[in-house]
Amino acid sequence: MERVSTGISELDAKLSGGYPKGRAILLTGTPGAGKTIFGLHFVQRSVIDGKKCMHIATEESPEDILIQAEILGLNLKPYLDSGQLRIERVFETRTESAEMSAQLGFGFETTEINLLEQLKLVPDDIDVVVIDNMGVFALNIDVKEFRDILDMISRLLTSKGCTTLMVMDDAAHNLTHGIAEYSAYGSIKLMMKENPYTGVRERYLDIPKMRSTKLSLELSVFDITSEGIKIRKSGSKNE
Ligand SMILES: Nc1ncnc2c1ncn2[C@@H]1O[C@H](COP(=O)(O)OP(=O)(O)O)[C@@H](O)[C@H]1O
Ligand SMILES: [Mg+2]
Repeated sequence: MERVSTGISELDAKLSGGYPKGRAILLTGTPGAGKTIFGLHFVQRSVIDGKKCMHIATEESPEDILIQAEILGLNLKPYLDSGQLRIERVFETRTESAEMSAQLGFGFETTEINLLEQLKLVPDDIDVVVIDNMGVFALNIDVKEFRDILDMISRLLTSKGCTTLMVMDDAAHNLTHGIAEYSAYGSIKLMMKENPYTGVRERYLDIPKMRSTKLSLELSVFDITSEGIKIRKSGSKNE
């Protein structure tokens, strides 16, 4: 199976070269766990490799994304200017439109989720899509409906040949009973917890699932540095 670099070399090594090409991978974690930065590494590496990318943001403005990237030494601006990278802001419009349609006397079901419509418009030549964060789309709908949306997204983007990173916060992931794990081709979890021996809080990365990939079940420890995510070599200490 062809692989697409994650932008984090140690992670590529753990994934037999990178994400399985043309598939949707789920990335979950608590706020501050490093999900957005993780996605930025993928985008940066992909544009450098000449791929066409789309970053779909639900929480941050495109300006904030560029600022965060720049702080980490990831320079996305030229790719944005050349059109090789597109950053789209998508809002979850259901609540707003439901209120609006109620005011106008329409039924609630007349509203559509913007994201799916947006994804249908993704040009066929886009290679890489990052959706940060899917969580907002899990609000106000039942789990079954959310599963259907995820399946549609993953099928749609796979049919376009896009390698997709679907970012989702833990709160929304728990609210939907972890159902996204089933739709996704692979799942990566970021977490922070206290090292019981040192009492120091550390960042961990877990890969519970990656189809067509031989996985080690060992958790990886990583740091977020001025150059972004750095996975520590297993067994190494941070002293
Ligand atoms: N230059 C940096 N050096 C060290 N840590 C940083 C740097 N920039 C960001 N961080 C850390 O990254 C965290 C945010 O990561 P982010 O990817 O935005 O998290 P998430 O998207 O999971 O909420 C911040 O809380 C901060 O601790
Ligand atoms: Mg984020």
